[in-house]
Amino acid sequence: MKKIRPSEITPEHVYLSRRRFMTGTAKLLAGAALLAACGGVAPGAPEDEPTAGLPTQAPDATAFPPSEDAVEPATSEAPQTDELGNVWTPYQSVVGYNNYYEFSLLKDEVAELSKGFVTSPWTVEVGGLVSNPRTFDLDDLQAFEVEERVTRMRCVEAWSMVIPWLGFPLSRLLKEVEPTSKAKYVRFETVLDELQMPGLNQPFPWPYVEGLRLDEAMHDLTLLSTGLYGRDLRPQNGAPIRLVVPWKYGFKSLKSIVKIDLVEEMPTTFWAAGGGGEYGFWANVNPEVSHPRWSQATERLLGENQRVPTLFMNGYAEEVAELYDDLGSREWYY
Ligand code: MTE
Repeated sequence: MKKIRPSEITPEHVYLSRRRFMTGTAKLLAGAALLAACGGVAPGAPEDEPTAGLPTQAPDATAFPPSEDAVEPATSEAPQTDELGNVWTPYQSVVGYNNYYEFSLLKDEVAELSKGFVTSPWTVEVGGLVSNPRTFDLDDLQAFEVEERVTRMRCVEAWSMVIPWLGFPLSRLLKEVEPTSKAKYVRFETVLDELQMPGLNQPFPWPYVEGLRLDEAMHDLTLLSTGLYGRDLRPQNGAPIRLVVPWKYGFKSLKSIVKIDLVEEMPTTFWAAGGGGEYGFWANVNPEVSHPRWSQATERLLGENQRVPTLFMNGYAEEVAELYDDLGSREWYY
C-alpha cells in the first residue's frame, strides 16, 4: 500500500473546516478520532542530559511508559530528511518528549498531564505599539494559509529534533496589526491556567514570557505554528498556536500563546527572570559558547544513536546573518 507523505495530508483544521456542515454526530466522531490520535511515547531513554532551569530542579526524565493511544502518522517508505540530510525525528518522540513546565518538569509526563487541555475557544490578543490592535480567534488564525516547514529545534539542554511544522510566518500576523515606528521588540505570553496546568505550582515567574527584536520577529524563518507532521498541534507541543524560532535555543519558542505585544523596551523573559542568571534574551545557538553548567558543542539528535556536532546558529547562519551586524560578537549568544 502506498503510504502518504505528511505534506500530502490536509492540515486537520482545514480538513475540519471543510466539514463544518457535517451533522452533530459526525462532528463528535471526528473529535473522538482527534483525541485518539493524541499520544505520548518516546523511543529510548534520554542520556545524562542537563535540565534547564535553576540548579535545584528535578532531574531529567529517564523512562517512557508506553501509551496505548499513540498513533504514528503515515510516512513514506524512504526516511524524510531536512535540507542537511537529518532524518525527521520520529513522531512519537516529538509528541512524547516535551518541555512544557506549566504541566511538568518531567518530559515524559507532559503528554499525559496535558491530555484534554482545552484549546477551544482560544484567542490571541495582539496590541501594544500597533495602529490596528486585534484579537484573533481560532477562525481568524486558521484563515492564515499554512505551509510545511521542516526545521531543526535545538534545546538549550543539548538535545535536538527535526520537526515538520505546519505554520505561517509571524510577519503575516504582525503586518495585519501594523506596528508603529516606536515598536522595537515583540513580547509573547503563554496562557496561564491554574486549573489545567499542574506545573504552575512550581516557584517560577509565571506566565511564560518570551521576546524577539522586531526584525527577528519579521524574519521569514520565524513561524507561528499550528501543527506538525500534518496534524494539528497536540497540547504538549503548544496547541493551538506556538512560536518556532529555529536559529535560537528552543526555550524562545513558547507554546500556547494568548498575548502578543509590540513594545519599545527589551522585554524581561521568563528564563531571564527565573533561570538563575543562566539564560539571556538573544539565545542564538552557538557551539562555542557554553552554558554555565554544560558544553553546547554537541547535541543528542533524538532518533539518532550518537551525539552530533551543534551547528552555529543551528545551521541557519546564512539566512539570519542579515539580522546581526557582527555575528562574531559574543553578545548574541547569551
Ligand atoms: N513554552 C512554554 N510555555 N513552557 C515551556 O516550558 N519550554 C520551551 C519551549 N516552549 C516551554 C515552552 C523549551 S525549553 C523547549 S526546548 C521547547 O518548548 C520544546 O518544545 P517541544 O516540547 O514541542 O519539543
